[in-house]
Amino acid sequence: MTADNIESLMHEQRRYEPPATGRDTAHVKSLDAYQAIYKRSIEDPDGYWADRATELLTWSKPWDTVLEYDFDKPEIKWFAGGQLNAAYNCLDRHLTDGRRNKAALIWQGEADGAVRTYTYQMLHDEVCRFANVLKKLGVKKGDRVSLYLPMVPELAIAMLACARIGAPHSIVFAGFSANSLRDRVNDCESKILVCSDAVIRSGKTIPLKPNADQALTECPSVEKCVVVRHAGNEVAMQAGRDLWWHDVMCDHGVQGACEPEPMDAEDVLFILYTSGSTGKPKGVYHTTGGYLTYAAHTSQLVFDLHDDDIHWCTADIGWITGHSYIVYGPLALGATSLMFESVPTYPEPDRFWQICEKFKVNIFYTAPTVIRSLMRSGPAWTQKHDLSSLRILGSVGEPINPEAWMWYHEHVGHGKLPIVDTWWQTETGGLMISPLPYATPLKPGSASLPLPGIDAAIVDNENKEVGPNQGGFLVIKKPWPGMLRGIWNAPERFKQQYFTGFKGAYESGDGARRDEEGYFWIMGRVDDVINVSGHRMGTAEIESALVSHPTVAEAAVVGMPHDIKGQSIYAYVTLKAGYEESDDLLKALKMHVRKEIGPIAAPEVIQFAPGLPKTRSGKIMRRILRKIASNEVDSLGDTSTLADPSVVTELIDGKKKLF
Ligand code: WT7
Repeated sequence: MTADNIESLMHEQRRYEPPATGRDTAHVKSLDAYQAIYKRSIEDPDGYWADRATELLTWSKPWDTVLEYDFDKPEIKWFAGGQLNAAYNCLDRHLTDGRRNKAALIWQGEADGAVRTYTYQMLHDEVCRFANVLKKLGVKKGDRVSLYLPMVPELAIAMLACARIGAPHSIVFAGFSANSLRDRVNDCESKILVCSDAVIRSGKTIPLKPNADQALTECPSVEKCVVVRHAGNEVAMQAGRDLWWHDVMCDHGVQGACEPEPMDAEDVLFILYTSGSTGKPKGVYHTTGGYLTYAAHTSQLVFDLHDDDIHWCTADIGWITGHSYIVYGPLALGATSLMFESVPTYPEPDRFWQICEKFKVNIFYTAPTVIRSLMRSGPAWTQKHDLSSLRILGSVGEPINPEAWMWYHEHVGHGKLPIVDTWWQTETGGLMISPLPYATPLKPGSASLPLPGIDAAIVDNENKEVGPNQGGFLVIKKPWPGMLRGIWNAPERFKQQYFTGFKGAYESGDGARRDEEGYFWIMGRVDDVINVSGHRMGTAEIESALVSHPTVAEAAVVGMPHDIKGQSIYAYVTLKAGYEESDDLLKALKMHVRKEIGPIAAPEVIQFAPGLPKTRSGKIMRRILRKIASNEVDSLGDTSTLADPSVVTELIDGKKKLF
């Protein structure tokens, strides 16, 4: 980090007022109401969070203290002395509050006819059965269980079963390799692995059990492997170790109730590995009372969940987004959550819209990468479907480029629906900066204002708050209940990564600026910042400027070494369907960025890219793009977490043609 600030160059001027319809019943009805709640949450955090935790959850024992913390140590305790059970809160209490026969989970498989609906009663019963299975297999409170499953209902059932008996779950996204699985199982020494025969994706059956088998040859802690039959493909079962889910669930001994284990508020609920920008994945862990309070709180305020809503978060449960907004948040509130197994573009690019129409989805939450890919296919696909049930649209994972925002707004929201652009992280457990759908005026590309309870600030590297529109480091100055409590097995890394950069604050690792009205504009990861002739620029704004050109579907920019300027800007650009690559277009794109932001941001090089390297959660891996731009292709590092490693070769070949 250098002494100068991250400069912010782009100024998006569009503004949309929250819709009038829906306000009367909204949880937060106006900007004034939000401001009043926010003020109270900052002035009296203990009172505010005590009220929220009481309103939202059922505790079997009240807490002694709301918050004790010391960021220097670091140590954070919410609701210490209190006890509750997350599965009880997500299931049992809804059996007696009038929701027993309400759909808790609706599962849509890849085949349109593959639908399974679980009422709260049914989900409760399945969870109890699997909790009994785990106990029978010797799992005790505090033991870890790894779940390596595609988007099948058994994943939600298994996680809630773990929560019920107090065994922290560690979900490993089913797109990860055998080695990734092995590392994640070994780091937390899981006793049990739950996997499936295969993953079904775009009409193909991709075997999964062989990955588990390969990993398990090097996972000494794992005693049993429970296998869900999903695709029905042939699998080898190792006698003494492997058990079929459908067999163990039929066992006589596991039928009937399983009492929820009373958990201390600060007992670990789950571990979730997130790949740091370099090196070993971090086992971020969250605890029971604070995480669940925060997941329920944010689901209620930002998705404005009401009893007759169908809530659809399109993320995989293998990411924090799925943990918090498919399972824990919606179910704690007694809502109906839709879970979808497949991809947005199969069999056609209207799959999401077809599902919205089919289930009359009210709240739809997805990622910018999805929006950009559907933009590429054109708006005709949205027009084929009746999307009138939609009430709130959401976005997460990356900054949403204003042009993608506009497309989402016009073609999915028909110019009427609020878009909640939610900034948060695996570490934060839940949404942190986001509009409230019926309260916050929207500015395309801005995550807007901090949620109640969140004391967010932008500081320079002296830890001083910067003025309006000056870029800097995004930090959070006070604890919030959903924040991570540690990194599994790595207390030093926990301290180092989040609490030493800016004394007395949580360091997010993102760059951002705040405009005159206090709106936050996320500029991307600080590691991705580019420094041209001493001007530090975030990737997000330059990429958004490129994407605002009518021919561009997607863009990624990185810095490359430059003799005079220090760094210059290298841009990778994917065109929309129907546009041709040409030298004239290259020039036009450079001019376009000059005009939108200024000469300083104009790319030195633009390379047309048929595709961009992305992680399996859809984030662009700029680290790899930086290496290609600076001709360091021998040291690309780990590319195993890429969704499609073949794009890397295409980009290297494409670059050779340029020079
Ligand atoms: C990083 C966290 C949060 C769940 C999914 C990703 C980026 C996330 C936004 C947004 C701009 C965003 C940040 C953040 N990010 N949401 N709305 N606007 N950037 O979780 O894998 O932990 O990634 O994603 O850079 O630090 P994650």
